[in-house]
Amino acid sequence: MITGVSCLLFSLLIMCIGGNQFDPHLFPTTGPFFEGWYMRITDFDRRDSIGLLFGHVLPKQGINTSDPLVMASILRRENCQKKVCQLVSYNAMFTPDQTKVTVNGKPVISNPDDASLANFQFEMNSGSEGGLFTQNANSTTFDFRIGNLSLRGELGPSVPWAPNGGGPEGWLSHLPLPLHWFVYSLRSPLKIYDLTDIERKQTILGHHGVAHLEKNWGLSFPKAWIWAEGVSDYNKNISFALSGGLVQFSFFSLTAYLIGYRNPFENIDINFRPDNSVVVLQNDDCKREVNITARSLFYTLEINLFSTNSSFSSCLFGPQETGFRKACVESYDAVAKIQVYKASVLGVFVHKLIDKQTLTDIALEFGGTYDCGNMCMT
Ligand SMILES: *[C@@H]1O[C@H](CO)[C@@H](O)[C@H](O)[C@H]1NC(C)=O
Ligand SMILES: *[C@@H]1O[C@H](CO)[C@@H](O)[C@H](O)[C@H]1NC(C)=O
Ligand SMILES: *[C@@H]1O[C@H](CO)[C@@H](O)[C@H](O)[C@H]1NC(C)=O
Ligand SMILES: *[C@@H]1O[C@H](CO)[C@@H](O)[C@H](O)[C@H]1NC(C)=O
Ligand SMILES: *[C@@H]1O[C@H](CO)[C@@H](O)[C@H](O)[C@H]1NC(C)=O
Ligand SMILES: *[C@@H]1O[C@H](CO)[C@@H](O)[C@H](O)[C@H]1NC(C)=O
Repeated sequence: MITGVSCLLFSLLIMCIGGNQFDPHLFPTTGPFFEGWYMRITDFDRRDSIGLLFGHVLPKQGINTSDPLVMASILRRENCQKKVCQLVSYNAMFTPDQTKVTVNGKPVISNPDDASLANFQFEMNSGSEGGLFTQNANSTTFDFRIGNLSLRGELGPSVPWAPNGGGPEGWLSHLPLPLHWFVYSLRSPLKIYDLTDIERKQTILGHHGVAHLEKNWGLSFPKAWIWAEGVSDYNKNISFALSGGLVQFSFFSLTAYLIGYRNPFENIDINFRPDNSVVVLQNDDCKREVNITARSLFYTLEINLFSTNSSFSSCLFGPQETGFRKACVESYDAVAKIQVYKASVLGVFVHKLIDKQTLTDIALEFGGTYDCGNMCMT
């Protein structure tokens, strides 16, 4: 993306002003362009999970679109049978006029840099529905009203992907990519949240858990993608996240994956990107199962991801060139079986098993043509 490069060139001359990549990007004068945030709370006491998404799209110039340009969604698990629940999305649509985005209390006038602390607000309000998301250095607060649901809460400091604002893309984030993915926090401590069904007068309260925080921005979501993210509880403090698929450039497409796995007790902190690894992915999207093998010089990571078909949501909305459209399906009930191998004393060609984990209550998403039968492509 041009903004990323100009920021890089610009930063050679003058420091790029702004905050962490979690902060809002400057929208170009002509679209398509989008930016979207995603938070997922994992509640260890209730063994439950709740998602919050919001974002905005500047549509491709010259098109006449009726798709919503600003959206917020609350995702929760419902219709449980034998502990497997379906993910259900509650959506609210807003217009750009009903939306206000600020960085350090001021309008967005430049792109974020890497190093500074994130400090922004995203606010939308249509009268009956609305949301306010505030990221203030070490604290995240949210207060959303969508349909009959209200979701409020507070998180503590982020547990970043890498020091100095580094994210899954590493130095690749400075390339003109059509799409970017940044993980702000792998597991921010949950201070408190409450999810209230106003009509039914039901409230869920939680304060023991963590939250994953991330962001995408760029031209549009890719043709096909897979995304997953999950954590263990406080006994192990494991976390992982991965995203990738078929990314379109102007004249070609390529498959690319970004993967990170952290196990602090085993001292494992590994990242896989197109510049340092080879990723092989076997996807049986109709069986809702993916196997990923990522191999770098010193590590091999194998992930077997699967979830019951009935746990998947109906089509969730994703940013496209015309606005938000049905794009993907997601489950919060997936399982991740993870194995990590490390180069042994015999050299980089012999990788020895050093870690083996099974994580539950994982988020797993199939998007675009990677969704079984392209159900969400319209
Ligand atoms: C856009 O679409 C609306 C409704 O479909 C129509 O009334 C309007 O004339 C269209 N505008 C343009 C510029 O095509
Ligand atoms: C955020 O937390 C870090 C580490 O605990 C601390 O050094 C820093 O001063 C805090 N910043 C703010 C603005 O609270
Ligand atoms: C809120 O709940 C009422 C009563 O259950 C229902 O009729 C209404 O459709 C709900 N509103 C939304 C926006 O879901
Ligand atoms: C996991 O991380 C939390 C939060 O940083 C910490 O309080 C806890 O002690 C860690 N768990 C272990 C077993 O060290
Ligand atoms: C994934 O790996 C498991 C275990 O090796 C195997 O049983 C399963 O068939 C594989 N699934 C896919 C989609 O390749
Ligand atoms: C999975 O669920 C969807 C929607 O509920 C259904 O259309 C599809 O046939 C199911 N697939 C399998 C393999 O059971």
